[in-house]
Amino acid sequence: MKNAPPRKGPTVAAKPVAERAKRLVVLVSGSGTNLQALLDEIAAVGAEAYGAKIVAVGADRENIEGLARAERAGLPTFVRKVKDYDSREEWDAALAEAVSSYEPDLVVSAGFMKIVGKEFLARFGGRFVNTHPALLPSFPGAHGVRDALAYGARVTGCTVHFVDDGVDTGPIIAQGVVEVRDEDDESALHERIKEVERRLLVEVVGRLARNGYRIEGRKVVIQ
Ligand code: GAR
Repeated sequence: MKNAPPRKGPTVAAKPVAERAKRLVVLVSGSGTNLQALLDEIAAVGAEAYGAKIVAVGADRENIEGLARAERAGLPTFVRKVKDYDSREEWDAALAEAVSSYEPDLVVSAGFMKIVGKEFLARFGGRFVNTHPALLPSFPGAHGVRDALAYGARVTGCTVHFVDDGVDTGPIIAQGVVEVRDEDDESALHERIKEVERRLLVEVVGRLARNGYRIEGRKVVIQ
């Protein structure tokens, strides 16, 4: 039997090229365990599958474990200290410029203990994510854990939210709940919050990056 002529297969539409991994700049001020959780997840599943990769880590101070973690991961780092600038506005513009040079899709404040200003928000508003160790709108500010304990709250937790021009007032993306124990001090409670927080941040950033999102007033809709 003669060989049959090669049959033309059905026309298959070209697969859409996989969306590139989104670019993240992470800002830190301290131990950087939230940063580490992001690094570990991306290393475990790969940037493409996670939907994002960290392209740089910035800080407002030197000699912190957060920067050391970034360096060990081979990432570029930068430091912009408030005291090196004549005004808070100049610092804010310098921070915005440094972040911008890495062309991020999302900026993540993972324990970054500074309030950014107008210039930063003009460039990164709507794509600047913060994690806070309390259930906002309760206990905003620099001492979310201490303030919840002092108040006598029986549950607290963490909030991942977009940053707006208030202090921890931006649209909430996700929250995790942690029970307060009678024997808790600030450090024990913060450690338990951080266990929940790291998982939540990794999950939220990945979903934002992979699925896209829109902000409708105070609601964040992940597509
Ligand atoms: C986290 O608990 C974060 O929510 C908090 O700092 C910790 C950083 O931990 N941020 C704030 O309090 C901001 N107001 P890490 O350096 O180990 O990731």
